[in-house]
Amino acid sequence: MVFSIFSIVGRRDCIRTAFRLALEKLHHINKRNMCGIVGYAGGREASEVILKGLQRLEYRGYDSAGMAVLNDGMNIIKVKGKVSELAKLSKKKKLNGNIGIGHTRWATHGEPNEINAHPHTGSHRNFSLVHNGIIENYDVLRRNLEEKGHLFAGESDTEVLAHLIEEIHELSDIDFFQAIQQALLQVKGTYGIAVVHKYHPDRIIVARKGSPLLIGVGEGENFVASDASPIIEYTKKVVYLEDEEMAVITRDGYEVSTLKNVPLTKEVHELAMSLEQIEKGGFPHFMLKEIFEQGDTIADCMRGRLIVHENRIQLGGLEGFVDKLAGARRVIIAACGTSWHSGLVGEYLFEYLAHMSVEVEYASEFRYREQLIDERDVMIVISQSGETADTLAALREAKRRGAMVLGICNVVGSTIARETDAGVYTHAGPEIGVASTKAFTAQVTVLTMMAMLLGRQNKVLSDAMMKELVKELNNIPKKVEEILKDTSVIEEVARLFTYAPNFLYLGRSYNFPVALEGALKLKEISYIHAEGYPAAEMKHGPIALIDEHMPVVVIAATDHTNDKIISNMEEVKARKGRLIAISSNGQSGVGRLAEFNITIPETHDSLTPLLAVIPLQLLAYFIAVNRKCHVDQPRNLAKSVTVE
Ligand code: AGP
Ligand code: GLU
Repeated sequence: MVFSIFSIVGRRDCIRTAFRLALEKLHHINKRNMCGIVGYAGGREASEVILKGLQRLEYRGYDSAGMAVLNDGMNIIKVKGKVSELAKLSKKKKLNGNIGIGHTRWATHGEPNEINAHPHTGSHRNFSLVHNGIIENYDVLRRNLEEKGHLFAGESDTEVLAHLIEEIHELSDIDFFQAIQQALLQVKGTYGIAVVHKYHPDRIIVARKGSPLLIGVGEGENFVASDASPIIEYTKKVVYLEDEEMAVITRDGYEVSTLKNVPLTKEVHELAMSLEQIEKGGFPHFMLKEIFEQGDTIADCMRGRLIVHENRIQLGGLEGFVDKLAGARRVIIAACGTSWHSGLVGEYLFEYLAHMSVEVEYASEFRYREQLIDERDVMIVISQSGETADTLAALREAKRRGAMVLGICNVVGSTIARETDAGVYTHAGPEIGVASTKAFTAQVTVLTMMAMLLGRQNKVLSDAMMKELVKELNNIPKKVEEILKDTSVIEEVARLFTYAPNFLYLGRSYNFPVALEGALKLKEISYIHAEGYPAAEMKHGPIALIDEHMPVVVIAATDHTNDKIISNMEEVKARKGRLIAISSNGQSGVGRLAEFNITIPETHDSLTPLLAVIPLQLLAYFIAVNRKCHVDQPRNLAKSVTVE
């Protein structure tokens, strides 16, 4: 269904209606990747079904994998690396049995290694648990369990949940299913879990809150998985679990209830999507799926870090390093491409919220300059992949000269993450599209939280301002979803300017880096030449480019330079430039000037980049699709530039 939308050219209303319908259908489909879960109960060899299913789920991110199979006891195997490593080990270990669970991990807490790989057990290894999501309060739970004598093998948040279930089950005489319920009621955060117990060898217990799980309904066999890709070759009948629902699955059937034991009767859906469509969450491209994930991924990035009821920021990864950062002689941000753009947003945020001066360097330039950096200074490197050669080189050069280096990365355990002194993971999940979208907004979210934390540390961010920022930041995910609800104006602009040979993007203050990012998105996936400029810079030359053929995208979202940006729009209009504005709801003056006015919800000035960038990502996407470009793998580009 979603595929057909983009093959229909010209019938605008039909595209819009079909697109809207398809997106509504997708609310069940997992929009987000974090890892993959597969469970099986039936007559086949469970290990074979699980391995094949995990391979189908690898697109969701993997850094380690494992499975548990029940057969006269419980056999567990786990590996660091790809599912193919697990398959090799499975051949050696011969895991026979007809019921089991498996997992591909995309680490959030704890290095990607065999110990932190799932399944996790308690101390007595009577049951196995796999988990998709983030246990936000894992550290408090872990400390309580350690005081009760629990010994932990690794550092993952999931292992804490396994020990919590064991503690409750073995301390009380309630049954295992209820012990899981009790444990989940103590958990803050998100989970999709599957659990098998060696003394209950006929069943899989599953539960969901915030991370997708669905049941595959077969003949004499049943499945559970994070999405339909491991299931579709066996059955097209699926039951979608909703948040705070649990189920017991056996080979002959399944029973669903709420977390509070209220039995539920669930509708059985008939899958109508191909395997490829399922991998993309029903979207035609990974890039579009990742654009639509940003409400969730920004929320995940703030999870356990934006402590709303206490009006504070908690960045565990920087504990012990904040003083040095706040007191640094120089703070240098080094990155490449989109990550360099988020660093530029960081410069404005650190100045405004923390009264700290920051220099933002292209990592590729920094590494060859006469770097005047030493132990008095701090470098912050930003990298989605954590493998960019230029950024890694800049990091190593800064460390060699004695500077402290902090990282903002998306891939746990990546080279850059491992070589920094400390850092903050963005928790955006795997970003498959070469054009970075959700990583950018996650990076900016981390930088915003860092600037707020430093502002309080430096005693320059007032209680009132902190309270306002915490409230506004907490509302950003909802506001992102609002923007994504109606893309019609953006699609119209894309249709009109699909074959424009050039674009200009203008912004001021926080939104100047957003102008650069919008231009890069368009360049890299539609191959149209585009430049981003500080809006005021136009009169120093580039305004000569403007005539009736030049589309000019102006990020005019309300900020303290609003009147100035309106004047810049007047200058463009006076030269017949085609004005496309991104403005905040209710903002005066923009609508009468712009040929197209794409509005975003109002927010605090310093948070506008998180919203203003979304329409620019979509504009680039729709233009590239109209030009039949290869959106997810644009020509000449790689997802991670690991060469100089
Ligand atoms: C952005 O859309 C590009 N894919 C590219 O500029 C990218 O941001 C750059 O290569 C840096 O990658 P990194 O964040 O993984 O270090
Ligand atoms: N937070 C868990 C971990 O880091 C699960 C991550 C995932 O969803 O793969 O192990």
